[in-house]
Amino acid sequence: MIYINNNKEFHLTNGMISYICRVEEKTGVLEQLYFGSAIPHQPTFDYLIEREIRPSNNFKKEDHTSSLEHIKQEMPMYGTTDFRYPAVEVQYPDGDAISHFNYSNYRISNKKRKIPNLPTSFYDEAEAETLTIVLKDRYSSLTIEMDYTIFKDFPIISRQNHIVHHDDCRYQLMRFMSMSLDLPIDDCDWLHLDGAWARETQVKRDKLHSGLQQISSTRGASSHIHNPFFAICEKSATEFQGDVYAFSLIYSGNFVGQIEVDTYRISRVQMGINPYQFSWQLEKGDVFSSPEVIMNYAQNGFNEMSRNFHAFFKKHLIRQKWASKERPVLINNWEATYFNFDESKILALAQEAANLGIELFVLDDGWFGHRDNDASSLGNWQVDKRKLPHGIRSLSQKIHEKGLKFGLWFEPEMVSMDTPLYQAHPDWIVGHPQKNISHGRNQYVLDFSQNCVIDCIFEQMDAVLKACEIDYVKWDMNRYISEAYSVSLGKQRQGEFFHRYILGVYALYEKLLAKYPDLLIESCAGGGGRFDPALLYYAPQTWTSDDTDAIERLKIQYGASMVYPLSAIGSHVSEVPNHQVARMTSLKMRSDVALFGTFGYELDVTKLSQREKSQVKNQIILFKKHRTLLHTGTFFRLQSPFNGNVCAWMVVSENQTEALIGYYQILAEPNPPYQRLRLKGLNADFDYTIWEKEQVRTGKDLMAVGLIFGENYIDRASDFWQRQMAGDFSSKLIYLTRNKMQG
Ligand code: GLA
Repeated sequence: MIYINNNKEFHLTNGMISYICRVEEKTGVLEQLYFGSAIPHQPTFDYLIEREIRPSNNFKKEDHTSSLEHIKQEMPMYGTTDFRYPAVEVQYPDGDAISHFNYSNYRISNKKRKIPNLPTSFYDEAEAETLTIVLKDRYSSLTIEMDYTIFKDFPIISRQNHIVHHDDCRYQLMRFMSMSLDLPIDDCDWLHLDGAWARETQVKRDKLHSGLQQISSTRGASSHIHNPFFAICEKSATEFQGDVYAFSLIYSGNFVGQIEVDTYRISRVQMGINPYQFSWQLEKGDVFSSPEVIMNYAQNGFNEMSRNFHAFFKKHLIRQKWASKERPVLINNWEATYFNFDESKILALAQEAANLGIELFVLDDGWFGHRDNDASSLGNWQVDKRKLPHGIRSLSQKIHEKGLKFGLWFEPEMVSMDTPLYQAHPDWIVGHPQKNISHGRNQYVLDFSQNCVIDCIFEQMDAVLKACEIDYVKWDMNRYISEAYSVSLGKQRQGEFFHRYILGVYALYEKLLAKYPDLLIESCAGGGGRFDPALLYYAPQTWTSDDTDAIERLKIQYGASMVYPLSAIGSHVSEVPNHQVARMTSLKMRSDVALFGTFGYELDVTKLSQREKSQVKNQIILFKKHRTLLHTGTFFRLQSPFNGNVCAWMVVSENQTEALIGYYQILAEPNPPYQRLRLKGLNADFDYTIWEKEQVRTGKDLMAVGLIFGENYIDRASDFWQRQMAGDFSSKLIYLTRNKMQG
């Protein structure tokens, strides 16, 4: 998959994509030539070099084509003739930041480099190859190793950079991007996922403008505000057509994703650790590795982009034990009880849940210390005997006896003021001891850049996990870091805090999973405040949002599906009026939306009427029937809730013999226009039975013509026109199977 011409041109290709770069002779830098759909290998790619003599630039002596301002690069740096944002910036002992990283050598390997406590994609030797290009600094002994991994079955290249320190000087790394790609396009749009608490992953599409545009986080977590993902696409690109270049960073901390459109219509795309508030001291023997970024090229629009991400993450990122494993139907007591519960309430909920067919009971916040509200007890992971007099172990046993698995909520990174931990270790709290330290949700952040803090929390969690049978952990994180400072880091290293913090979070995940490899972990950060690929590496599902309203969830889940597979998208049926927006929706609508995710319930099932209970029972039977399809099939977004009144999506099994379609109408319309929904991903030659309509139609027909929804007004019944759609907030599920008669 990796071709090298004359030791100076590198072509990575797998029949789907090509990525080509070369060593530029005059400057020694690595020059970017092409990234896009596969092109045949050639003995030379010289013909892709673009050079113009341009006035008013800085050049090497007696040369008019060596201005790096006009050369597309792979590792731009400060102190050359390029004025755009660099990918690497080092502060040298003299205080300057002038670098010149020249090509030195390369190597190829089919083994993945493993970096302790930094999640990256993984692969078997036959599935991918990595080209490592080594650059050497002209002014120091620093080297940069640039890993380009090409995967056999995906139009994806992953990128990761490592800077290696070899001498006795002390350097300060100020900026070190995971990738930098100069694309010769600018007449494009870019798409990203923005939001806030309770309205995460909202799809935003903007026109690229000249200059800098970026998404980022400075909050210590990837954040609700921007997901660490963006895509550049042709202006005409849609869900099903057009070139899309998409980038997803395997990182949960402060990140930046940016596009700098220059005056020569080059778009410099960069992604990596946010250089704001970042620096890293390099000492002899140190290697600093950037997080990995996944570069995904899709020729046929955003659906193809998403399918690439979903399949890639399942095969090469999510723990294999869970990647394609169906997720249990869970019940979570949070919206049912909040902090106000006792053992008998929990057991009553669990009993009813078991009767309904639920498989996992999750005890959420409030089981430890004396946490009756959010101002107390984080960091004191001892059971609250007032609420659970027989302890967690006994509760877990009783719940298992009912035939349910048992899960428990933790917020490991946080501490409340009223705990022994907070009192004994003020030096374990993030913040400057002489300056203001803000609380968020009445809590403080533990300094996970210190190993002793991680060890203490691990011991507390371990004490609970080893004493009780616990199948699932919900790992929450409910505030951002606003006054970053660690007393343990000294004066020179405060710029390292944010990265060290998130490495500490990964270290605790590693420790827990090393001891409890079967644990299913769901990550959460006040909903989707840390929904990113790095956490998926450890926690195969994420609580997508604290907003459980079915209508809001259409947008949130539609947006999340841009990057993340359905098996990662935590989704629950909750009560009405909805606790976040007070909206009334039917139990059917709520379940039809939650079905396209991990699926669970978050309401007091003991309070349901008999009719509702039997409805819930049937919903669970339905989910279980389709669970394999939903969690292992191929997902297609058909109609966007961001564009109108209807949202639709579907899942098709890998062998195309069955499909499930979710169709959602937000508001009822009087005398509405005709509606057709063209399906995707079916086999054109198969006959499919549409169970809800008792119709048989070919795949070709269903994809070309579509399903026809003409049933709004079906008859004149008494004084009003009888409707089949249930009015506002209504939904339909449509199930297709390949007609067996066809053989
Ligand atoms: C966060 C989570 C919720 C719930 C509460 C508990 O907000 O997103 O699901 O666990 O914390 O305090």
